[in-house]
Amino acid sequence: MTKFNFRFIFLTLAVFSLSVSQISAEEISLDTLVKKGGPLFVHYCSHCHGIDGDGEGFNADYLDRQPANLTDAEFMAKRKDSRIYRVIKKGGPEVRKSNLMPSFGNTLSDLEIWSLVAFVRTLSGGEIKEIPKELDDKRPEIKKISKKDWDGFNAWKKAGGLDSDAGYGELLVNNKKSCPACHSIEDEGGALGPDLTRAGLLYSPEWLYQWLNNPQAVKPNTKMPDQGLSDKEVKAIISFLTGMVGEDEEEPFRVAKKSDPKNGKKLFFDLEGKAKCAKCHSINQEGGIIGPDLSFVGSSRNESFIIESLLDPSKVLTSGYSTVSVITKDGKFYSGIQKNEKLESFDLIDETGKTNSINRSRVNKFKFADKSLMPENFKTELSEQEISDILSYLKTLKFYTN
Ligand code: HEC
Ligand code: HEC
Ligand code: HEC
Repeated sequence: MTKFNFRFIFLTLAVFSLSVSQISAEEISLDTLVKKGGPLFVHYCSHCHGIDGDGEGFNADYLDRQPANLTDAEFMAKRKDSRIYRVIKKGGPEVRKSNLMPSFGNTLSDLEIWSLVAFVRTLSGGEIKEIPKELDDKRPEIKKISKKDWDGFNAWKKAGGLDSDAGYGELLVNNKKSCPACHSIEDEGGALGPDLTRAGLLYSPEWLYQWLNNPQAVKPNTKMPDQGLSDKEVKAIISFLTGMVGEDEEEPFRVAKKSDPKNGKKLFFDLEGKAKCAKCHSINQEGGIIGPDLSFVGSSRNESFIIESLLDPSKVLTSGYSTVSVITKDGKFYSGIQKNEKLESFDLIDETGKTNSINRSRVNKFKFADKSLMPENFKTELSEQEISDILSYLKTLKFYTN
């Protein structure tokens, strides 16, 4: 990495009226920009471009096009700062490159995008030169779905919309948008987000409408950037995805005729009981952080998905919660779920809740295991009645904006 001159960049003296969210370049030093860009790069870019920027992140293996090697000084020298800015903001097609390079302009602020440009420059030993006079620190507004939108959606569904636009949706997903960069369908495509081969079984149309309109409204920190889809595009993609059901192999679990959500809740939170779900999962701020938050699992996942997660946890791993195993240079072995990713280190939290902080320079081997950290034996440990009770409790946990 390069050394920076810790100088301030004076680009303009004549900035008179600044709104609160605008930061003038006078106020921000190059060093500050680079420091802001680093963590953003780890969070939004490193899975494809690699933590060092060499183009070899774990997700690169699944892509038809190699993510650019941002450490290549010759390659980077041919690109102006403004071009790098445009690529990050609008995606590959903006500069006639692949749609596998996603756009971040609907998710990040101008200041954040310029910070990324500044940071990316350092990866090849360079330095940013053109910073605009004013940098807007406000992220794009999070699109709320209005009552009118929901009414329109329901009317569309009622009129058979789900069966009408699948062809256009497939074209968008497979060829026009960046979805295959992060999601696989029938073994083709990226591994950052969940596999979508069975999306129709896993997610309700309502949830897809909520999620695709604006992932950040649901999970502010998700690595899926807002794709800036129009209402028409969202609906077409839902048509396509809800038709994706894969092949069902097993006999479905039979939910008990009568179930008791209160007992389900008790089983969930009782840390001395048979299920101990709250050891790893939290609901509305209560519980553990080893597994994903389940505060709105009742709207984000269909019943069949929840049952499968419980009875066969390794079948579909929740994105971001794969078990990682690490062997260090001094021969120590760690496994757990990766949290707190930084440029120089990350944490692994194991099934007992113990956290190990691991410096990247210590890592000899790093591997994602395709096994869940969640216990595999609920199928035999819990009765069908208990499973049904837990399920009925989880189904009460909802979230939609309107
Ligand atoms: C899902 C994978 C993926 C993610 C995430 C991703 N990129 Fe890329 N990126 C690519 C691919 C693939 C290319 C190569 C495109 C091509 O050559 O057609 C690329 C190309 C680039 C280029 C070179 C464009 C040019 O001028 O040729 C830059 C710069 C870049 N990415 C920066 C970033 C930054 C910064 C982030 C994070 C904000 C990021 N990328 C996130 C996949 C990704
Ligand atoms: C840069 C990577 C990236 C791109 C591009 C991307 N996704 Fe995602 N997607 C993710 C990640 C990561 C998740 C998991 C979200 C989480 O839990 O934070 C996700 C989640 C999802 C989900 C499941 C939502 C849920 O509740 O778990 C669906 C459906 C989805 N994406 C569809 C799409 C479609 C359709 C496109 C293209 C229009 C797309 N994604 C583009 C990374 C991406
Ligand atoms: C030792 C920790 C642990 C325990 C105990 C545990 N889980 Fe999990 N759970 C996880 C992890 C880790 C994941 C994410 C990996 C995966 O998809 O299996 C997960 C995933 C899930 C998912 C999928 C979430 C999603 O949105 O994709 C559901 C639902 C779930 N667990 C429910 C439960 C319930 C109900 C119980 C109690 C009966 C339980 N879990 C007990 C660790 C645990």
